Amino acid sequence: MRTVDLITKKRDGGELSKAEIDALIAGYTEGSIPDYQMSAMAMAIFFKGMTPSERADLTMAMVHSGETIDLSGIAGVKVDKHSTGGVGDTTTLVLAPLVASIGVPVAKMSGRGLGHTGGTIDKLESVPGFHVEIDNDQFIDLVNRNGLAVIGQSDKLTPADKKLYGLRDVTGTVNSIPLIASSIMSKKIASGADAIVLDVKTGDGAFMKEMSEAEDLAACMVDIGNRVGRKTVAVLSDMSQPLGKAIGNALEVREAIDTLRGVGPEDLTSLCLELGSHMAVLAGVAQSKEDARSMLEQSISSGKALAKFRTFLEAQGGDVSVVDDPDKLPSAKYRFEAPAKQSGYVSSIAAESMGVAAMLLGAGRATKDSKIDLAVGIVLNKKVGERVEEGQSLATIHANTESVDEALAIIYEAIGISDRQVTPSPLIVGEVK
Ligand code: URA
Ligand code: CA
Repeated sequence: MRTVDLITKKRDGGELSKAEIDALIAGYTEGSIPDYQMSAMAMAIFFKGMTPSERADLTMAMVHSGETIDLSGIAGVKVDKHSTGGVGDTTTLVLAPLVASIGVPVAKMSGRGLGHTGGTIDKLESVPGFHVEIDNDQFIDLVNRNGLAVIGQSDKLTPADKKLYGLRDVTGTVNSIPLIASSIMSKKIASGADAIVLDVKTGDGAFMKEMSEAEDLAACMVDIGNRVGRKTVAVLSDMSQPLGKAIGNALEVREAIDTLRGVGPEDLTSLCLELGSHMAVLAGVAQSKEDARSMLEQSISSGKALAKFRTFLEAQGGDVSVVDDPDKLPSAKYRFEAPAKQSGYVSSIAAESMGVAAMLLGAGRATKDSKIDLAVGIVLNKKVGERVEEGQSLATIHANTESVDEALAIIYEAIGISDRQVTPSPLIVGEVK
């Protein structure tokens, strides 16, 4: 089969067969199909889309382009969670011990990655001693013993996706729903998930800014999951303002500890309960979402969830005393406040801009090789809808430099204050299953 024939078929709106998609992905992965042909194909897909069976076939072809993780040594249904990414999204740090504490096995493969703040592993590494350098056998053993372990992302998974994502990035073809959906789902499936809960963000700080796009992406991923035998549920959640109050690595660990203790921010707590309930139902640990939710709430109030977090940190070398004494986490040399210039109601906190400000302070990586400062970031003192008086602090900057003018200017620009009372947008805006 000639690659050019597959490209013209897609260009003219035809449907590629499984054999054709397999050949395309295998050829591209090994290098016999060059970038210029694959970029023409990506552009054809961008304009013509893909049928439901093409999307499922593409996903599985990418899964099989590299190694896959075998979690069959762990009893039970392995449910993974994926978020399409937001600003100050601390959910994984809370959810993993929370659901593990009620019996959902959590075998989490996480990354560092680029972004406003570090990835889950960077955040966890702000706990002194904590590390993810464990081999596969130890990983499985820890999940069997403690119900929870986190390991670094293997770079041998889904090489086709890695190559194709890089190509899409420079050919204007990132923003194609079937390509995004198959990219995300291939990585989750290759990491060994039996079932998947997706947190698809919508709003300013999200990849999909429009609700209709977020819905399409969610439906597309759920359909792929269900076609390839992985029960999948998507929750659509608002990212028009940052989630929780903390944006920054150690700051988010502190926020996660508060949340596991039952005194975390309301929005973060409520999103974790929502996602966690779906995970518990998919894992077969609870009969209904309502049952799951009360089990999770009970686990927080009894201290079981926090105890699970301790066990988890300790098993991977972390200093558990940070749980009772978060001041032992890395902390920044300077604090600066951003006092409100007028009284009123907070009407908006542009999530994306707050993320950029945190990154300028050093909380995230601009490039693969930049160093991350675990201590720095921003803590919001007011969220959308709250009343603020002139001079009261809107946000606290945690910095290791005295020159924070640029970050401060972005923060002021990002936070809107209105004379009239404002109702924040609801956090959970939809569900697809
Ligand atoms: N995230 C991914 O993993 N893949 C995409 O294509 C887009 C976002
Ligand atoms: Ca947060």
